Amino acid sequence: MSFKILTLNNISVAGLRRLPRDSYEVASEIGHPDAILVRSADMHEMKIPSSVKAVARAGAGVNNIPIDALAQRGIPVFNAPGANANAVKELVLASLWLGARNICQAWQYVRELEGDDDAVTRAVEAGKKKYAGFELPGRTLGVVGLGAIGVEVANAALALGMRVVGFDPAMTVERAWQMSSGVEKAASLDHLFAEADFVTVHVPLLDATRALVNAERLRLMKKNAIVLNFARGGIVDEEAVIEALDAGRLAAYVCDFPNNYNRLHPKVTALPHLGASTGEAEDNCAIMVAENMREYLENGNIRHSVNFPEAVMPRGEGGRLAIANLNVPNMVGQISTRLAEAGLNIIDLLNKSRGPVAYTLVDVEGRVPENIVESIAGIEGVLKLRLL
Ligand SMILES: NC(=O)c1ccc[n+]([C@@H]2O[C@H](COP(=O)([O-])OP(=O)(O)OC[C@H]3O[C@@H](n4cnc5c(N)ncnc54)[C@H](O)[C@@H]3O)[C@@H](O)[C@H]2O)c1
Repeated sequence: MSFKILTLNNISVAGLRRLPRDSYEVASEIGHPDAILVRSADMHEMKIPSSVKAVARAGAGVNNIPIDALAQRGIPVFNAPGANANAVKELVLASLWLGARNICQAWQYVRELEGDDDAVTRAVEAGKKKYAGFELPGRTLGVVGLGAIGVEVANAALALGMRVVGFDPAMTVERAWQMSSGVEKAASLDHLFAEADFVTVHVPLLDATRALVNAERLRLMKKNAIVLNFARGGIVDEEAVIEALDAGRLAAYVCDFPNNYNRLHPKVTALPHLGASTGEAEDNCAIMVAENMREYLENGNIRHSVNFPEAVMPRGEGGRLAIANLNVPNMVGQISTRLAEAGLNIIDLLNKSRGPVAYTLVDVEGRVPENIVESIAGIEGVLKLRLL
């Protein structure tokens, strides 16, 4: 088997190395691509060739990709959830100290000193008490959202000696396995705010999470608490935060989303969206999507797709049919009937659905003749079929 991969952006070499040269041709201009690798290029207006079987986004967000339209064509879109979690976690940890020790404000104070060294030394000694801070062990960190990033932050904060309270009504089993048993479950979001010295949010921006950090919840917090936002700007009601900072209730707001309203406030440290900005995160994203795309192209298995179900069946002997179909009754029945009519024995079968689409893997003893493949491809509701 050999595959042609079209890249729409520069993709990290670490990821491309996962596609062996003897079976993968990768280029930014290529005819009849089997798959597309993309980072930020907008694909909404792009004419996606009929040869394309998969789209892989080396990152987490997929709003540059028409995922529903691709699902209707039987094309899974892969992304790299969690591949940048360590990068964000490290910046959140740094930000605990930025807030607790007033590091940015103190650094700014020193930069603005004037005079000879004696004058600077005198000013340092006179000014330093304004920037006195506190230490992390024994303090409580409230983590809202225990997904890829939240769990890493929670585990690391525990290791620093903090007490960690988490809240996530839809935590996955996989994340629960990764989370240290020392993380306490908050009875509610309000309880979390009431107990925390720091609150850090790690939820997606949705209607339900917009302004999740708001005036009422800030009022529940201890005096001199700190809010960290490395998720999305809209999750925090910034007017309420600035009001709490000005009233001396909140000590600091550290975020990754500067705007003209927050960036010059003396108690705000706003970083230029640096959360996932590391070479390692970029490599991890590219490696993850390259591996998942390859597994799909070669074996039909689906891991981490945003528009198709997770579907993984170990590869055995025999041929494999990988079928993307509409999620309607009797698809599996029709497929197995066609195989039975041709005298073909099914060794293993997997059928999973997600919203309007479903995905079926069928391992068949021996070779599946071309006319049977065509007959199954012709069943109404079959979107794409591959014989692997
Ligand atoms: N600063 C950056 O550069 C940067 C980088 C990567 C991700 N992010 C942001 O961080 C967010 C989290 O990323 P992730 O990889 O951990 O995502 P994830 O999908 O692994 O985890 C999100 C978690 O939030 C939970 N959640 C959803 N709604 C909730 C609610 N109302 N209350 C509590 N929990 C809720 C989900 O159940 C899930 O466990 C992303 O959505 C993205 O916006 C920012």
